[in-house]
Amino acid sequence: MNGPQQPAPAADFAGWRAHQQGVVEQALSRWVPADSPARLGEAMRYAVLDGGKRLRPLLVLATAEALGGHPGAALRAACAVELIHAYSLVHDDMPCMDNDVLRRGKPTVHVQFGEAQALLAGDALQALAFELLVPGDGSLPAELSARLCRLLAVAAGADGMAGGQAVDLASVGVALDRAALEAMHRRKTGALLQASVTMGAATAAATPQQQADLAEYGACIGLAFQVVDDILDVTADSATLGKTAGKDAAADKPTFVSLMGLAPAQSYADAVLDRAHQALRRCGLQQADHLHALADWVGRRAS
Ligand code: IPE
Ligand code: IPE
Ligand code: MG
Ligand code: MG
Ligand code: MG
Repeated sequence: MNGPQQPAPAADFAGWRAHQQGVVEQALSRWVPADSPARLGEAMRYAVLDGGKRLRPLLVLATAEALGGHPGAALRAACAVELIHAYSLVHDDMPCMDNDVLRRGKPTVHVQFGEAQALLAGDALQALAFELLVPGDGSLPAELSARLCRLLAVAAGADGMAGGQAVDLASVGVALDRAALEAMHRRKTGALLQASVTMGAATAAATPQQQADLAEYGACIGLAFQVVDDILDVTADSATLGKTAGKDAAADKPTFVSLMGLAPAQSYADAVLDRAHQALRRCGLQQADHLHALADWVGRRAS
């Protein structure tokens, strides 16, 4: 099960990232069907293709690469977590949630295709994520498929992303304290990012200690990522973000910026990312450069 990972053609992080983003884009384009009835496939492809940083797939692939994981499983897991993420964005943008009209530099799915179609596209993307993890051609060992499905299901569900989104909506106008805000961020965004790392590790033979250290790395990346998302909502413009800036304050959402202010929020994100680097160093992996670089990227990204 531990086949060799294809080496990326460029040694530097930017080159590796661009290469893997291309691999993921091609795989998603192959796996997200265009021919579903009544334009549903069109809405699904619109939601998934040609946009997004692909951070979650990159985390899966970098973790699998660092541990010598199963390449076919890693690519399927990378695309599966991106499909769940894309579905979460489609629903997050709907009028009943954040009511956003711009996503990844394009009109949101409900603006382009209507609310019912957006709802269904999200539903179908979620189902497709799990279909990818259980290929009909038997190319993944059944036990590995089951482990990947469980990790993704737990991260996407009531104790992960969906639960975090429920807390987010229930917290409008509420001044959450730091512990409550952190708990919300760990669920709504952190869980899927952490699952990206633990799914990558599941494709390989990581020791229990490495699994625990990588889970801590993933949790720190996930928390810091949403803190930086809160910061960018205030500091960046809509053109750079590809989504409407300034929405959190306008909607009276509690964020790390509203709780502590901009500079302390950035210091907090930096401290959490330091913990990610420490956890990674404890793993003693030979090839952890891309995982370290991904942590740095989360902290200093512009969009
Ligand atoms: C945005 O996620 C939503 C959050 C979970 C904060 P990303 O910033 O990863 O969005 P894309 O995939 O790059 O568009
Ligand atoms: C969304 O958080 C997290 C999801 C689970 C989709 P936000 O509502 O802050 O994400 P953006 O800012 O719209 O991308
Ligand atoms: Mg939201
Ligand atoms: Mg939103
Ligand atoms: Mg946001």
